[in-house]
Amino acid sequence: MPVLVVNVDHIATIRQARMGQEPDPVTAAHLAEMAGAMGIIVHLREDRRHIQDRDVELLKAVLKTNLHFEMAATDEMKAIALRIRPYMVCLVPEKREELTTEGGLECAGRESFLKEYLAPFHDSGIRSSLFIDADPAQIEAAGKSGAEYVEIHTGHYADAQHYKDKQKKLEKIVEGVRHARNLGLKVNLGHGLNYHNIYGFSRVSGISEYSIGHSIISRAALTGMTEAVKTMAGIIHAFVE
Ligand code: PXP
Repeated sequence: MPVLVVNVDHIATIRQARMGQEPDPVTAAHLAEMAGAMGIIVHLREDRRHIQDRDVELLKAVLKTNLHFEMAATDEMKAIALRIRPYMVCLVPEKREELTTEGGLECAGRESFLKEYLAPFHDSGIRSSLFIDADPAQIEAAGKSGAEYVEIHTGHYADAQHYKDKQKKLEKIVEGVRHARNLGLKVNLGHGLNYHNIYGFSRVSGISEYSIGHSIISRAALTGMTEAVKTMAGIIHAFVE
């Protein structure tokens, strides 16, 4: 059965807008776990634009499910991940100017580097995943890199505007899932998945985890709006005239 792992980066994005204490991604993670998330994901970016080092440490200490750690394949991130020991690391490409992760990791031609980079994680019992496009060359290279999982990038499917294009992108991902499974890889999916496009995968088997952040945080902000405003209005309406 596939499970949902929730990315709480954008709770931290809101907090960092004021450089303050709230909203706290750790509290959001607890609520997500209580609602059925089977894991929590954070991406500690080089520029620390949302999740901070302390968040990762706190999450590792208090989560009841599993901490998934998205990271660029740098020495700095390797040292942090080996110290914190998340359940799984997922290597993603990272560019400073990007709004979010834009494409899959380039694995083809980098198998030896990736194998060497991942080795200490495997020695420490940490699962590894590579975030890749549904491209046969990347899938095969990921298989040769010794990773246990691939996360297939669903962003191109999510972004496709027209039905035919969307179907084409979906078929490519489904073919990628099959290809990766045949190579013995476990397969996760993520990026740009929302309450509508997720149905595209309802009949696709062989998927371990769905990694979803932005659409869940966006919905949470709106479904929580009524309650939040009622509470504040209630406080103010009880003031003396
Ligand atoms: N998977 C990876 C590798 C990502 O970089 C992201 C975005 O941080 C996600 C999944 C989640 O994407 P979204 O926030 O669009 O659901």
